[in-house]
Amino acid sequence: MKTCTTTKQLRNLLSREKLAGKRIAFVPTMGNLHEGHLQLVRKAKQVADVVVVSIFVNPLQFNAQDDLNKYPRTLVADKEKLFAEGAQYLFFPSVDEVYPEGMAQQTKVSVPELSETLCGANRPGHFTGVATVVSKLFNIVLPDVAIFGKKDYQQLSIIKKMVQDLCMPIEIIGIETARAEDGLALSSRNGHLKPEERNTAPILHQTLQSCREAIACGYDSYTELEQHALETLKAAGFQPDYFSIRDAYTLKDVTDDTELIVIAAAAQLGTPRLIDNVTLNLNPNQDWGMLATN
Ligand code: PAJ
Repeated sequence: MKTCTTTKQLRNLLSREKLAGKRIAFVPTMGNLHEGHLQLVRKAKQVADVVVVSIFVNPLQFNAQDDLNKYPRTLVADKEKLFAEGAQYLFFPSVDEVYPEGMAQQTKVSVPELSETLCGANRPGHFTGVATVVSKLFNIVLPDVAIFGKKDYQQLSIIKKMVQDLCMPIEIIGIETARAEDGLALSSRNGHLKPEERNTAPILHQTLQSCREAIACGYDSYTELEQHALETLKAAGFQPDYFSIRDAYTLKDVTDDTELIVIAAAAQLGTPRLIDNVTLNLNPNQDWGMLATN
């Protein structure tokens, strides 16, 4: 596996691969890799000849300096994992390499509406930071396909919209959330949970699942379900940010036209903020293609 720290170096190497007719898959990450990230790398290997992974803790998408400073950086272990999975290129740029004129001077990409709700409501600028860095990385790597996790469901929706709106010729694949045995979604932030918080953490997924089951059984008072879930989370020791039942495509309230529902939640447990979601197809006979099956 070749590690590149500059755009120039990576572009030179990848242009040779392109000339040789190779299909390139890209997996952007912020490192501290776990099984969830590695599933994306495995999918990338299946769908392309060359796999490029980036590790860049993007300051533009962090609201709190403290959160940015505390973000776990584990390059040596990450490299070993990527090598074992057969990734061919690691892009590991510095902040100066990505933002040579500083972040204030950087042209931004913002996806309206989808970025302003759920996780975007209390984290102004977060998704503009994500869309900006991902579009820069896309322009550096020029992949044929890019792989993202459904754990960050809103992020995946925003990237799909950005690619569509800006006519980027890149296929976006979403991958199911990798979980611990007790259901907790794997996350780099789980390492900050104290032992007793780690025992409580799976309640987030359990609450999402109970809500999903209630809707699947025909319960359609969504406000009551959301309220009940928020109370369950509070009683368990979480400080919930939101628990919302939405249309999975628009991320707006469910309407009569809604065919796929996403139930998404974010809650603080001790220091870390955990997010998770589940989906429910209201029309099980329909094939939802990429969104539901990958
Ligand atoms: P990061 O949190 O490192 O996640 C990188 C990718 O791994 C994202 O697509 C995320 O959805 C996916 N992922 C994380 N945990 C997962 C899990 N348990 N199961 C499946 N996939 C999982 O998301 C980011 O980085 C950044 O915002 C980034 C897109 C790299 C832009 O900076």
